[in-house]
Amino acid sequence: MENIPEVSHAELLRRQLQGPWHNAMLDKWVGRGELDYEKYVRTQQLLALQTPPEQCVTPDELMFQVVHQSQELWLKLLAHESVECVAELDQDQLWEVSARLERMNRVARTLASQLGVLETLTPDAYQIIRRALGNGSGQESPGYNAVGLTAQGLEEALARLLWRRGVELATLYTRPGLADLKRMCEQLLDYDESFQLWLYTHFQLVRRTIGVDSTVKALDGLPTRVLTGRMMKPLFPALWRVRVEMTATWRREGGHAPGAPRGSTGSDVP
Ligand code: HEM
Repeated sequence: MENIPEVSHAELLRRQLQGPWHNAMLDKWVGRGELDYEKYVRTQQLLALQTPPEQCVTPDELMFQVVHQSQELWLKLLAHESVECVAELDQDQLWEVSARLERMNRVARTLASQLGVLETLTPDAYQIIRRALGNGSGQESPGYNAVGLTAQGLEEALARLLWRRGVELATLYTRPGLADLKRMCEQLLDYDESFQLWLYTHFQLVRRTIGVDSTVKALDGLPTRVLTGRMMKPLFPALWRVRVEMTATWRREGGHAPGAPRGSTGSDVP
């Protein structure tokens, strides 16, 4: 008959997880913070930043903390990349700007998809964690504030670039020969859209965790419903406005009347 251990298998594993671990391939001890990888990544400090399991209010708390901490790191990276992008814009290095905006777009998408992990937190588990959160607000997130600040810097750098080239934002989409600027604006828009996707995913996360309603209040007393308007707030309003302005000046002249054969001219179009 199998021996019944004095402690559970899970508890044994939990203890082993505290390390260090002997890596047979390297014939070295991992987890003491002495190896080059551990020193460079600063794993000792990084992995000590989460509440130890015995102090967590629920086993789900580690996931809750890891997602929040990772989000702050990705937001920090976005702010850093934005500053580099401002420098490149001011030096007219548009290929470099393009590559960086592609990276920033991917980071913003990563932010949104990571929230999917937090969506596995059920409302009852969140209610337990919520008691340990104080009265904090999402607006207190350093990364969120840094991204907002640097987006303003990006918008101003774009305005300076357009001024140097002697073009208005609206003319980019109508005048030929400005493909480089137009492409860059579309990439800024990609980044903005991905960032709003993050805000929208966050909204759905809040909705399934505590509910969105005028009666549901956040820990800082704000009704969760305020998020409905805020999640649509763009980073670069001028880039979105230009589309509205173009549509306002749009005329059907030169097109096909609805249902008319393709060969007909647009002259009879109402
Ligand atoms: C279950 C998890 C979460 C819940 C229930 C939650 C809940 C809320 C609520 C109710 C608000 C609106 C009130 C306020 O500003 O405090 C809010 C705002 C915010 N949260 Fe969260 N949140 C969660 C996770 C996250 C994560 C992982 C981040 C990542 C940094 C985050 C960032 C923010 C930001 C930046 C705002 C301000 C957004 C704005 O005002 O437009 N939240 N959150």
